[in-house]
Amino acid sequence: MFVYADNAATTKLRPVARERYLKTCEEFFGNPSSLHTAGQRAKEELTRCRESVARILGAEANEIYFTSGGSEGDNQAILSAAHFGAKKGKKKIVSTAIEHHAVLHTLKKLQKEGFEVVLLPVGEEGIVKAEDAEKEIDENTCLVSVMLANNEIGTIQPVEEIGKICRERKVPFHTDAVQAVGHMPVNVKALNCDYLALSAHKFGGPRGVGALYVRRGMPLESLIEGGAQERGKRAGTEDLPAVAAMTAALEEATRDLPAYMKKVSALRDTLIENLSRIPHCALNGDRKRRLCGNVSFCFEGIEGESLLLLLDDEGICASSGSACTSGSLDPSHVLLAIGRVHDVAHGSLRLTLNEENTEEDVAYMSEKIPQVVAYLRGMSPVWRDLNEGRRQFIL
Ligand SMILES: Cc1ncc(COP(=O)(O)O)c(C=O)c1O
Repeated sequence: MFVYADNAATTKLRPVARERYLKTCEEFFGNPSSLHTAGQRAKEELTRCRESVARILGAEANEIYFTSGGSEGDNQAILSAAHFGAKKGKKKIVSTAIEHHAVLHTLKKLQKEGFEVVLLPVGEEGIVKAEDAEKEIDENTCLVSVMLANNEIGTIQPVEEIGKICRERKVPFHTDAVQAVGHMPVNVKALNCDYLALSAHKFGGPRGVGALYVRRGMPLESLIEGGAQERGKRAGTEDLPAVAAMTAALEEATRDLPAYMKKVSALRDTLIENLSRIPHCALNGDRKRRLCGNVSFCFEGIEGESLLLLLDDEGICASSGSACTSGSLDPSHVLLAIGRVHDVAHGSLRLTLNEENTEEDVAYMSEKIPQVVAYLRGMSPVWRDLNEGRRQFIL
């Protein structure tokens, strides 16, 4: 059996996106900047895509900029708002401790440029409090950046409320909606955001393409210099096949979100219920206010990496919240932010489902994961110490 349960990392390309990609290569191969017929046809197709993405997000077409994905969108939005603020002497940025590195590393860069960065705590449920954001906003604040849904523990943040506060206080507000778009309703007006980044490969589109919503009148600086594409804000010949494939994926992913969310959250709930029976484990993040496909656990007495490798042997593709795979031994900043101690944070497992997953997948994972956890614990000196009283159980 093969079960792909790592949809927060990336998703399989939707057939509609693949078809649209190929069709666009065939029918709209011109360069949208060229004045001839082939070029103008491509330009019209690009406009149609922009209008469709805008309609789905509740934006205007001229508020949508096509990017290479979530990282670029986050970088561009944050740097633009920060540098604009600095010109007016405002150099304070408020964000959260659980943002993706696309946001956190950009903020680190800004700190080196002399910006003050405040990262709000999230508490054990993994959700930031709007009132904490409100308390931190002052006359020096040039940007607030809060993600819509967390990539590791799936928690949904009170972006609407924080956006409202920012709008009242006239502070630019960015939200990283990379994990949310295509998996829950996302409307830029309802969210009161000024910038919103999304990425196609998280909802069945291709890699390397995304969009940035920028509310009309908000500052936007270019990260790439060159031609006048994307109204002078992103140089480089547009990847029209990728943009069209993303548009097709987004249209399909958002066509019936309530039905999608109902189906996937039922799978998620069964999996959470089944895995919760494993002794000394804990669900990461709030039980209810989480993405419909996110299941994240910590298991005491095991290493997440060993768990991943053994699950892979059983045909289950999962992920751990820890950064060990990227060469660092530091546990996930998100798990530490919700109060997991280092040892426990190392024993994490993230399973992210979408509509491609089935009840059989859930039944298979519910059978295999407890077996693999028990096997690893049987070999673990930490588990022996815990059971023989030399260490205290935390979970
Ligand atoms: C919350 C979040 N933000 C940003 C990104 C970066 O997106 P991309 O891979 O399109 O650059 C990701 C990707 O995992 C993500 O989960």
